Amino acid sequence: MSLRPAQPLLAPSLLSADFTRLGDALKLLEEAENCIVHVDVMDGRFVPNITIGLPVVASLRQATKLPLDCHLMIVEPLRYATEFVTAGADWVSVHQEADPHLHRTLGAIRAAGAKAGVVLNPSTPIETLVDLVGDFDFVLLMSVNPGFGGQSFIPRVLDKINRLNALRTERNTPFVIQVDGGVSLDNAQDLVRAGADVLVAGNAVFKAADPLGAIRQLLSEMEKGRAS
Ligand code: DX5
Ligand code: ZN
Repeated sequence: MSLRPAQPLLAPSLLSADFTRLGDALKLLEEAENCIVHVDVMDGRFVPNITIGLPVVASLRQATKLPLDCHLMIVEPLRYATEFVTAGADWVSVHQEADPHLHRTLGAIRAAGAKAGVVLNPSTPIETLVDLVGDFDFVLLMSVNPGFGGQSFIPRVLDKINRLNALRTERNTPFVIQVDGGVSLDNAQDLVRAGADVLVAGNAVFKAADPLGAIRQLLSEMEKGRAS
C-alpha cells in the first residue's frame, strides 16, 4: 500500500488573492478541481505580519465545501487551534518552533475533528519529528521564511523533502508532505518527484494573468513529477 495519497493536490494561498473578492477566489478553486484552500493565519508575533483570523475562516466555511487548510503562524497555537476547527478548518497546521507541547496540540486538533499538521521553518531539521510519527496527518515544509507571499524558493528544501519521504518509508507510516513558499512552474515537478504531495502556491496562482490556467499547469507539472 502506498504511503502517499492517490492524488497530488494544489493548495492556492488566499494571502495572494484580492481580499475584496475572496468568494470569487473560492469559485475559481472549485472550478479547477484537485485544490484545497490554503489560509495563512499570522499574528504579528510569530511572524512579522498580521493577516487572517477566525471570522474570515468562518465566512469561508459558509461559502465553500472545499477543504480549508489553515496554516497557523501564531505563538501558543494550542490556545486557538481547536477554535479554527470549530470555525470550519479541515486541516490545521502549527509550527514546531512555536509549540513546546506539540504532542498535546496535535492530539487536540485530531480530537476536534481535523487533520493535524506540523510545520517546519527552513532552519528546523526533520529530525525534530521522529518521535511524533503517527501523531500527525501531514508535515508542511516551509521553502521560504514565513511571513509574506511572493518570496524566492529556497532550493535546499528539496533535500529535506527527500529525507522526510525516506523517513515515511522507513517508519511505514502514511502522512502527507506539503511544501509552502515560492512554488512555481519551475519547481513543482521536482518537488513532487522528491516526495511532496500537496503544494501551496500564492503568487504563482493569484498574481498570474490567467489564474485558472496557472492552477491547471501547476497540477499538470505535479502529475508529471508523480509519474516519473
Ligand atoms: C508564507 C505563507 C505562504 C505564502 C505562499 O508565510 O505561509 O503560504 O503565502 O505564497 P507564495 O507562493 O507567493 O510564496
Ligand atoms: Zn502558508
